[in-house]
Amino acid sequence: MNEVNLKDKTFEVFISDTEIAEIVHSISNQINNSGVKDPLFISVLNGSFMFSSDIMKNITIPNTEISFIKLSSYLGTESTGSVDELIGLGKDIKNRNIIILEDIIDTGITLEKIISLLKKEEVADIKVATLLFKPDAYTKDIHIDFIGKSIPNDFVVGYGLDFDEIGRNLPHIYKLKN
Ligand code: IMP
Ligand code: MG
Repeated sequence: MNEVNLKDKTFEVFISDTEIAEIVHSISNQINNSGVKDPLFISVLNGSFMFSSDIMKNITIPNTEISFIKLSSYLGTESTGSVDELIGLGKDIKNRNIIILEDIIDTGITLEKIISLLKKEEVADIKVATLLFKPDAYTKDIHIDFIGKSIPNDFVVGYGLDFDEIGRNLPHIYKLKN
Protein backbone atom coordinates (compact mmCIF):
# COMPACT_ATOMS: atom_id res chain seq x y z
CA MET A 1 0.00 0.00 0.00
CA ASN A 2 2.18 2.83 -1.29
CA GLU A 3 -0.77 5.17 -1.61
CA VAL A 4 -4.03 5.52 0.22
CA ASN A 5 -7.13 7.62 -0.44
CA LEU A 6 -8.82 9.31 2.48
CA LYS A 7 -11.95 11.27 1.63
CA ASP A 8 -10.99 13.31 -1.44
CA LYS A 9 -7.22 13.29 -0.85
CA THR A 10 -4.37 10.96 -1.85
CA PHE A 11 -1.58 10.20 0.59
CA GLU A 12 1.74 8.43 -0.05
CA VAL A 13 3.94 6.44 2.36
CA PHE A 14 6.36 8.74 4.18
CA ILE A 15 7.58 6.71 7.18
CA SER A 16 7.16 2.93 6.91
CA ASP A 17 6.13 0.69 9.80
CA THR A 18 9.70 -0.69 9.93
CA GLU A 19 11.17 2.78 10.27
CA ILE A 20 8.56 3.67 12.91
CA ALA A 21 9.59 0.60 14.91
CA GLU A 22 13.25 1.69 14.77
CA ILE A 23 12.33 5.21 15.92
CA VAL A 24 10.21 3.82 18.76
CA HIS A 25 13.10 1.61 19.92
CA SER A 26 15.48 4.54 19.84
CA ILE A 27 13.18 6.78 21.93
CA SER A 28 12.45 3.97 24.41
CA ASN A 29 16.17 3.35 24.87
CA GLN A 30 16.82 7.06 25.44
CA ILE A 31 14.05 7.16 28.06
CA ASN A 32 15.32 3.96 29.71
CA ASN A 33 18.81 5.50 29.94
CA SER A 34 17.66 8.96 31.07
CA GLY A 35 17.82 8.15 34.78
CA VAL A 36 14.16 9.05 35.38
CA LYS A 37 12.74 7.32 38.48
CA ASP A 38 9.22 5.86 38.88
CA PRO A 39 7.90 7.59 35.74
CA LEU A 40 4.27 8.37 35.11
CA PHE A 41 3.78 8.44 31.35
CA ILE A 42 0.94 10.66 30.23
CA SER A 43 -0.33 9.78 26.78
CA VAL A 44 -2.19 12.55 24.99
CA LEU A 45 -5.23 11.07 23.25
CA ASN A 46 -6.36 10.44 20.61
CA GLY A 47 -3.31 10.68 18.37
CA SER A 48 -0.77 9.09 20.73
CA PHE A 49 -2.51 5.80 21.40
CA MET A 50 -0.46 3.62 19.03
CA PHE A 51 2.84 5.33 19.76
CA SER A 52 2.24 5.08 23.52
CA SER A 53 1.41 1.41 23.32
CA ASP A 54 4.58 0.61 21.35
CA ILE A 55 6.78 2.79 23.59
CA MET A 56 5.46 1.17 26.77
CA LYS A 57 6.36 -2.32 25.58
CA ASN A 58 10.02 -1.26 25.48
CA ILE A 59 10.22 0.59 28.79
CA THR A 60 12.19 -1.29 31.42
CA ILE A 61 12.21 1.31 34.23
CA PRO A 62 10.90 -0.06 37.56
CA ASN A 63 7.49 1.21 38.78
CA THR A 64 6.49 2.60 35.37
CA GLU A 65 2.88 3.85 35.17
CA ILE A 66 0.77 5.26 32.36
CA SER A 67 -2.31 7.49 32.25
CA PHE A 68 -4.27 8.89 29.33
CA ILE A 69 -5.50 12.45 28.98
CA LYS A 70 -7.29 14.62 26.49
CA LEU A 71 -7.09 18.36 26.18
CA SER A 72 -10.48 19.93 25.93
CA SER A 73 -11.42 23.56 25.30
CA TYR A 74 -14.75 24.90 26.44
CA LEU A 75 -16.27 28.36 26.69
CA GLY A 76 -15.91 29.63 30.24
CA THR A 77 -17.64 32.68 31.63
CA GLU A 78 -17.73 35.75 29.42
CA SER A 79 -14.80 37.23 31.28
CA THR A 80 -12.53 34.21 30.86
CA GLY A 81 -13.35 33.30 27.25
CA SER A 82 -12.13 29.89 26.16
CA VAL A 83 -10.75 27.68 28.93
CA ASP A 84 -8.67 24.52 28.64
CA GLU A 85 -8.96 21.51 30.87
CA LEU A 86 -7.36 18.10 31.04
CA ILE A 87 -9.88 15.28 30.88
CA GLY A 88 -8.92 11.91 32.33
CA LEU A 89 -6.48 12.91 35.02
CA GLY A 90 -8.37 11.01 37.68
CA LYS A 91 -5.54 10.76 40.19
CA ASP A 92 -3.19 12.76 42.31
CA ILE A 93 0.01 13.37 40.35
CA LYS A 94 1.69 15.62 42.89
CA ASN A 95 5.48 15.05 43.07
CA ARG A 96 5.43 12.61 40.15
CA ASN A 97 8.02 12.45 37.37
CA ILE A 98 5.92 12.93 34.25
CA ILE A 99 6.83 11.93 30.71
CA ILE A 100 4.35 13.34 28.18
CA LEU A 101 3.83 11.12 25.11
CA GLU A 102 2.77 13.08 22.01
CA ASP A 103 2.24 11.86 18.47
CA ILE A 104 3.23 15.14 16.85
CA ILE A 105 4.27 18.62 17.94
CA ASP A 106 3.46 21.27 15.38
CA THR A 107 3.15 24.87 16.65
CA GLY A 108 3.57 23.69 20.25
CA ILE A 109 0.36 25.41 21.40
CA THR A 110 -1.17 22.13 22.61
CA LEU A 111 2.03 21.14 24.43
CA GLU A 112 2.25 24.51 26.17
CA LYS A 113 -1.34 24.21 27.41
CA ILE A 114 -0.82 20.66 28.66
CA ILE A 115 2.36 21.62 30.51
CA SER A 116 0.77 24.64 32.17
CA LEU A 117 -2.17 22.49 33.34
CA LEU A 118 0.17 19.75 34.64
CA LYS A 119 2.28 22.28 36.53
CA LYS A 120 -0.83 23.29 38.50
CA GLU A 121 -0.86 19.73 39.84
CA GLU A 122 2.54 20.35 41.46
CA VAL A 123 4.34 17.56 39.66
CA ALA A 124 8.06 17.07 40.38
CA ASP A 125 9.32 17.04 36.80
CA ILE A 126 7.99 17.06 33.24
CA LYS A 127 9.76 15.54 30.26
CA VAL A 128 8.37 15.45 26.73
CA ALA A 129 8.62 12.65 24.16
CA THR A 130 7.16 13.07 20.69
CA LEU A 131 7.20 10.76 17.71
CA LEU A 132 7.17 13.61 15.18
CA PHE A 133 8.24 17.24 15.37
CA LYS A 134 7.78 20.05 12.86
CA PRO A 135 10.63 22.45 13.69
CA ASP A 136 9.61 25.01 11.05
CA ALA A 137 6.15 25.34 12.60
CA TYR A 138 7.26 25.35 16.26
CA THR A 139 6.67 28.69 17.98
CA LYS A 140 7.51 27.85 21.62
CA ASP A 141 10.67 27.77 23.76
CA ILE A 142 9.74 24.59 25.61
CA HIS A 143 12.53 22.03 25.39
CA ILE A 144 11.49 18.70 23.86
CA ASP A 145 13.52 15.95 25.53
CA PHE A 146 12.94 13.04 23.14
CA ILE A 147 12.20 13.59 19.44
CA GLY A 148 11.58 10.61 17.16
CA LYS A 149 11.86 12.36 13.82
CA SER A 150 11.80 15.97 12.69
CA ILE A 151 9.75 16.47 9.55
CA PRO A 152 8.92 19.32 7.15
CA ASN A 153 5.60 21.15 7.35
CA ASP A 154 3.73 18.43 5.46
CA PHE A 155 0.41 17.08 6.65
CA VAL A 156 0.83 13.49 7.82
CA VAL A 157 -1.62 10.74 8.72
CA GLY A 158 -1.54 7.16 10.04
CA TYR A 159 -0.17 5.33 13.10
CA GLY A 160 -2.61 7.19 15.33
CA LEU A 161 -2.57 10.48 13.44
CA ASP A 162 -5.80 11.47 11.74
CA PHE A 163 -7.10 13.37 8.76
CA ASP A 164 -10.55 14.55 9.86
CA GLU A 165 -10.66 11.65 12.36
CA ILE A 166 -9.91 8.94 9.78
CA GLY A 167 -6.66 7.15 8.96
CA ARG A 168 -5.56 6.51 12.56
CA ASN A 169 -5.53 2.74 11.91
CA LEU A 170 -2.91 2.86 9.13
CA PRO A 171 0.34 1.08 10.13
CA HIS A 172 2.59 3.44 8.12
CA ILE A 173 2.72 7.23 8.27
CA TYR A 174 1.61 8.87 5.03
CA LYS A 175 1.93 12.40 3.74
CA LEU A 176 -0.36 14.35 1.52
CA LYS A 177 0.55 13.82 -2.12
CA ASN A 178 0.97 17.02 -4.10
P1 IMP B 1 0.11 22.05 17.83
O1 IMP B 1 -0.72 22.50 19.00
O2 IMP B 1 0.12 23.05 16.72
O3 IMP B 1 1.51 21.63 18.23
O4 IMP B 1 -0.62 20.84 17.17
C1 IMP B 1 -0.80 19.70 17.81
C2 IMP B 1 -1.93 18.88 17.26
O5 IMP B 1 -2.29 19.20 15.89
C3 IMP B 1 -1.47 17.46 17.22
O6 IMP B 1 -1.66 16.84 18.47
C4 IMP B 1 -2.31 16.89 16.12
O7 IMP B 1 -3.55 16.48 16.64
C5 IMP B 1 -2.52 18.02 15.16
N1 IMP B 1 -1.58 17.94 14.02
C6 IMP B 1 -0.56 18.78 13.73
N2 IMP B 1 0.05 18.43 12.60
C7 IMP B 1 -0.60 17.34 12.15
C8 IMP B 1 -0.42 16.49 10.99
O8 IMP B 1 0.46 16.67 10.13
N3 IMP B 1 -1.28 15.44 10.88
C9 IMP B 1 -2.26 15.18 11.78
N4 IMP B 1 -2.45 15.95 12.87
C10 IMP B 1 -1.63 17.02 13.05
MG1 MG C 1 -2.85 14.94 18.84
